[in-house]
Amino acid sequence: MNKYTLPLNTGSEIPQLGLGTWGVDKIDDLEKLFNIGIQCGYRHFDSASMYHNEGLTGKVLNQHIGNTVSREDIFVTSKLANNAHATKRLKPAIIQTLKDLQLDYLDLYLMHWPMATFDHGMQAYDLEELKVSYVETYQAMEALQQEGLTKAIGICNTNTQQLNRLLSECNIKPAVVQMEIHPYLTQEKIINYCKDHDIVITAYSPLGAPHRPWRKEESPVILEDKIVKKIAGKHQKSAAQILLRFAIQRELTVLTRSVNPDRIKQNSEVFDFALDADDMVSLLNLNRNFRGMNYSGALDHPDHPFREGIDN
Ligand code: A2P
Repeated sequence: MNKYTLPLNTGSEIPQLGLGTWGVDKIDDLEKLFNIGIQCGYRHFDSASMYHNEGLTGKVLNQHIGNTVSREDIFVTSKLANNAHATKRLKPAIIQTLKDLQLDYLDLYLMHWPMATFDHGMQAYDLEELKVSYVETYQAMEALQQEGLTKAIGICNTNTQQLNRLLSECNIKPAVVQMEIHPYLTQEKIINYCKDHDIVITAYSPLGAPHRPWRKEESPVILEDKIVKKIAGKHQKSAAQILLRFAIQRELTVLTRSVNPDRIKQNSEVFDFALDADDMVSLLNLNRNFRGMNYSGALDHPDHPFREGIDN
């Protein structure tokens, strides 16, 4: 399974299917995730300082490196927290992440949100630090790549206007843009933009994050969508496998997340079948621009990427 990779504009490669760690806070769950994940062939792991679990993740990962996998065989991503956007904070932030993850370098370091904020349980610093723009922060991230602390940099949760600014004002093109993507939020515009600019897109929440804590009762559940289930029946696969395969065939990298051993394995079995053109059109037609992760607590921030009126 780990042979399916996409080329990055840095010259290296990223495995198409990755395992996410958001919300996996217990050591037993992280052990399950890595033990079974590595056995099933996952080689791409996605972490973030704002997940508040990098110390535990590092402990578990460290048991595997040099044992079940070599460092060069895995691809590890982490993300800059919103409270560490001031340029003086970047290097200490990545060094802390490397220390927590027990690594010498990251394969990819992403700006988690293009906004400096003090929330998500993060320490608050001087309010002046919130004035830094995502462009300045990104420019400072370039130095982290130049110093070898990370092999590549990029950004999450953004829009094409912000990417245009980064491309015109920065020296290192983002290698990866990570976005929420699934059939209810198909994100054609930013995907096409990134393809035109040789930037790989990573899809997070490909199943629509069914267990997100702030989910409203009335919100649609993609895993239970009639069309998704019908396509699943046709291929004798689960709804989750259809949703993951949909991302794979759109030439995205995709992060899946489960603490259930059967589902970790099931989610890795998405390279032995193909959706046909009709399936792909039916899934794309489910789009309703439904965003599960819109960071509504920061809607008044001038750089909020998903404010009403912004055409992503
Ligand atoms: P669990 O850990 O109990 O398996 P997303 O990737 O869209 O953020 O969704 C992740 C959520 O989907 C997790 O809470 C996970 O719960 C659940 N999940 C992961 N894989 C599957 C699957 N194959 N079938 C059903 N639910 C899944």
